[in-house]
Amino acid sequence: MQKDDWMTPPNILVLQPNQVHVWRVFLDRGPVSAQWIESTLSAEEAERAARFHFDRDRQRFVIAHAALRDILSRYLGCRPKALTFSVNSYGKPELTNHELEFNLSHSGDYALIAAARGHKVGVDVEHIRMDKDLESIANRFFSPSELSEFMALPPERKAVGFFNCWTRKEAYIKAQGLGLSLSLDSFDVSLTPNEPAILRTTRPNPAESVRWALRLLVVHSDYIAAVAVEDATPSPPEGQGLEFRLWDWDRQIK
Ligand SMILES: CC(C)(COP(=O)(O)OP(=O)(O)OC[C@H]1O[C@@H](n2cnc3c(N)ncnc32)[C@H](O)[C@@H]1OP(=O)(O)O)[C@@H](O)C(=O)NCCC(=O)NCCS
Repeated sequence: MQKDDWMTPPNILVLQPNQVHVWRVFLDRGPVSAQWIESTLSAEEAERAARFHFDRDRQRFVIAHAALRDILSRYLGCRPKALTFSVNSYGKPELTNHELEFNLSHSGDYALIAAARGHKVGVDVEHIRMDKDLESIANRFFSPSELSEFMALPPERKAVGFFNCWTRKEAYIKAQGLGLSLSLDSFDVSLTPNEPAILRTTRPNPAESVRWALRLLVVHSDYIAAVAVEDATPSPPEGQGLEFRLWDWDRQIK
């Protein structure tokens, strides 16, 4: 059993410029009423929710987006429904009229929401699935050096290695906000289980890799997740480096 790092959030939330907050949200809460959806989400979100074929997927989507609105509104001191979003040219959602950076990811029963001030941030969570042909997917999506690191793993460590790589690559791409116009083999991440999460190399500009911090997030034993944060001052004075705070959204529900 791994240590649970997720803490009960304080009533008054302060997000300092050197902090990154990541929230874990449990999504499987059962039915949500149409009235609740209408009072919580925007018309566009409600319309997206209505398009899900399965109720369970709709419920998870609704909770993830309701949690996103709740969390962001608490940093910004406004009503959740007052928030408006737009997307950049590559599809990354952004807040309209606010500087706060955020990113959302959901998989199975969990969503993660990352927030930061003045740092691009991306997050990815994946449910570990053994049924996939991981080697052929790795062959298609990983860079040559990631692929050789992955292929060198013993069979029993391959699933964790695979999802370490996938979530770190996704978190970095999502943070950059350039979609897949940022080629998957233009950078290498670490993936070997129990080794630190690192953006090893970026091409064509190797200096870019130094400006990013990657971190593994332990959400649940069946999930793997990562957060990527732009950190323009990778060697800050003592005590002023990037600080991660992990909050459990469920621990404050009354
Ligand atoms: C669009 C993309 C973000 C999908 O990611 P995903 O893992 O399926 O989904 P996640 O749950 O992590 O993220 C979805 C959320 O990210 C946000 N998002 C959507 N587009 C985004 C973008 N271009 N950049 C950053 N965030 C984005 C949204 O909030 C979205 O939530 P919503 O759909 O409920 O509105 C994108 O990264 C993608 O399609 N990647 C391709 C997958 C791939 O080839 N990965 C290779 C890894 S080796």
